[in-house]
Amino acid sequence: MNEAFFTLHCDVPREGPGDAASVAWAMDLAGRARDARILDAGAGPGADIAGLLTGAPEGHVTAIEAHAPFVERIRTAWAGDARVTAHVGDMGQPGGPYDFIWCAGALYFLGITDGLKAWRDVLTPGGAIAFSELTLFAEHADPDVLTLREGYPAFAGLDTLKSRIDAAGYELLGLRQLPDAAWEAYFQPLETRIAMLRPGADDNLTAVLDEQAAEIALWRRARDQFGYTLAVVRPQ
Ligand SMILES: C[S@@+](CC[C@H](N)C(=O)[O-])C[C@H]1O[C@@H](n2cnc3c(N)ncnc32)[C@H](O)[C@@H]1O
Repeated sequence: MNEAFFTLHCDVPREGPGDAASVAWAMDLAGRARDARILDAGAGPGADIAGLLTGAPEGHVTAIEAHAPFVERIRTAWAGDARVTAHVGDMGQPGGPYDFIWCAGALYFLGITDGLKAWRDVLTPGGAIAFSELTLFAEHADPDVLTLREGYPAFAGLDTLKSRIDAAGYELLGLRQLPDAAWEAYFQPLETRIAMLRPGADDNLTAVLDEQAAEIALWRRARDQFGYTLAVVRPQ
């Protein structure tokens, strides 16, 4: 991970939009047991672990994350709680088995269809997956919104998301658009850090701060045109 990027992101609670109400909605739809074995794939600093354990208080969360400092933060936050294990690793090979896989804003790294196919064999019978994915909502979006494809080539609409799920051989249990509160939970701590880091920032860091500030401004201006869709799916 780029050093300036991590300077901005090292101390924020989450690495993408999300909220506890959406975790609860997804777990209810998936029908998970109180003792479910859960994978948090691409867990980042672990912002959703508490919500997952609220849904399965006698369960276990395995957090797999590629970036070691995030894993350290999870281990520190959950030290002494045997319900949480965190590993540096590749979520494409997550071990298992799992009754429920939660993947907030990270499945695109594997590709929706490829990732869902890879996880089929690690799900227990009746198991389900919930993942969130950046989605284009507007038929005629602003050019600025379409530039999101530069960093995110798979950026597409709901029909494409559904066809990617279908191509993996999964049934769609439900879709929910993440609320504004989920975006604010991601962006507000970043805005605080941007303001704190600006004085004295070198060129590299300034470029990262500017890029992040532009992304936040774009969402505030055009949030009716794109967002995150949370999908709950189960193998057919
Ligand atoms: C957009 S962030 C979301 C993090 C977290 N789920 C959240 O909502 O705060 C995506 C995360 O996926 C991680 N990641 C990307 N590819 C991965 C892989 N193959 N295995 C494990 N983690 C991965 C990144 O390091 C990053 O922390």
